[in-house]
Amino acid sequence: MTKQMHLIGFYMHSPINHTALSWADPADERLAGMAGFDHWKRLARLLEKGCFDAAFFADTPGGFDRYRESIDDYVRYGVCWPCHDPLAVGSVMLAETQNLGLAVTLSTAGSHPYGTVRRLSTLDYLSGGRVGWNIVSGHLRGEHRALGLDQMDHDARYDQADEYMDICYALWNGIAPDAILADRERGIYADPAKVAVVDVEGEYYRCRAVPPVLPSAQGRPVLFQAGSSGRGQQFALKHADVIFAIQPGEAAMRGFVQKLDATSQAAGKAEAPRVTFGIQCVIGGTETEAKAQQKAMAERIPLDAALCRMSGTLGVDFSKLDPAHRLADSTTQASQGMLQALANMTGDGNATVADAARVFGASTGMPQIVGDPAQVAERLIQLWRESGCHGFNVTPASNLGSVESFVDEVVPLLQKAGVFRTEYAGKTMQQNLVG
Ligand SMILES: Cc1cc2nc3c(=O)[nH]c(=O)nc-3n(C[C@H](O)[C@H](O)[C@H](O)COP(=O)(O)O)c2cc1C
Repeated sequence: MTKQMHLIGFYMHSPINHTALSWADPADERLAGMAGFDHWKRLARLLEKGCFDAAFFADTPGGFDRYRESIDDYVRYGVCWPCHDPLAVGSVMLAETQNLGLAVTLSTAGSHPYGTVRRLSTLDYLSGGRVGWNIVSGHLRGEHRALGLDQMDHDARYDQADEYMDICYALWNGIAPDAILADRERGIYADPAKVAVVDVEGEYYRCRAVPPVLPSAQGRPVLFQAGSSGRGQQFALKHADVIFAIQPGEAAMRGFVQKLDATSQAAGKAEAPRVTFGIQCVIGGTETEAKAQQKAMAERIPLDAALCRMSGTLGVDFSKLDPAHRLADSTTQASQGMLQALANMTGDGNATVADAARVFGASTGMPQIVGDPAQVAERLIQLWRESGCHGFNVTPASNLGSVESFVDEVVPLLQKAGVFRTEYAGKTMQQNLVG
């Protein structure tokens, strides 16, 4: 089969996904849907109908408290507040479907590897191998404050996460394929000689345990990583099956994929991790209609809401900077990769705080494709071909209308162009997404 595009839906269990104030759009269903299972079940069925690889949930398990050193705008505008645990709705979506995968973000900062393996792999086992894990190391200060932890510096967080992963692998690999006997006559469930006792005394963690969960149909969850700084990429090359990145446009996407391929080759890897890019599609019956939608979205967003989210993610209090300040002149211990990508959104590295706030409020920095279904499909195919990426994480402009338009009107055009599947090839997320 010729190379195929992969599509992942990108969400949060929050009043918004990645568009500030989307909850205030009269057509948006999230406020009503957030509290029950039906909204999420419908989303799952839609994605499966559209042959999406997975639903991907971001998670911000702590407040955006950098802007004006306050939580006021975060709470006032519902800037991902509250953000519920994605595993709960994710389980419901898996139960509602047969092929759709689920990728959840879970931070290494506030959790222990044993608990993480237990939570994620239980669901992976239950769902027949349809779970993925977006490994994040805790760039949000609010997450650490909530848990009473001191936030470590950027690179140290990755060092800690490396040790975290070593324990996860030991727990995932600790049950030999023939360990389970389930011998009713002899009353023997498993052979203890074939089940490892993981015993680690590391710099950051201690763990003495037998693996808490049986291997799933795909062995372990598919591993995603979204850090794109130098240290982040080093971590990704070591651990990730898929890198999820945000880059402002075609040239930056192509550059990202090429650099990753080169770094991967230099590191002696047979294959680089797959790359998916975040994108937002604003789809109208006509181009004029789509542009009007985009304008209405933008006009709904108070600058303070956009700056509040951007301050949290980039770890900089943007209330203290002039909107004309050049973003590249800021430094951060939070998301260095994202800061770099935004600073380069104008193509010359000269993007200002005001430029970045505009795209951060609209789509958390993800580029938008605005047009009728044919224009959206055409541009997606072009970005996919030109960048050499594996596919896209598509964040909706409104819930669930945007997902419906994408599945009903854009997916058939991608299929007709022969670049997207018409049925699932495999059963596990590994088979469908990574191949
Ligand atoms: C596309 C994308 C999605 C991310 N999603 C989350 C998330 O849901 N939760 C979180 O805590 N961090 C998230 N992050 C933060 C990264 O995982 C990482 O910790 C941060 O960007 C710092 O890494 P870097 O400087 O190497 O880019 C995301 C980053 C990117 C680029």
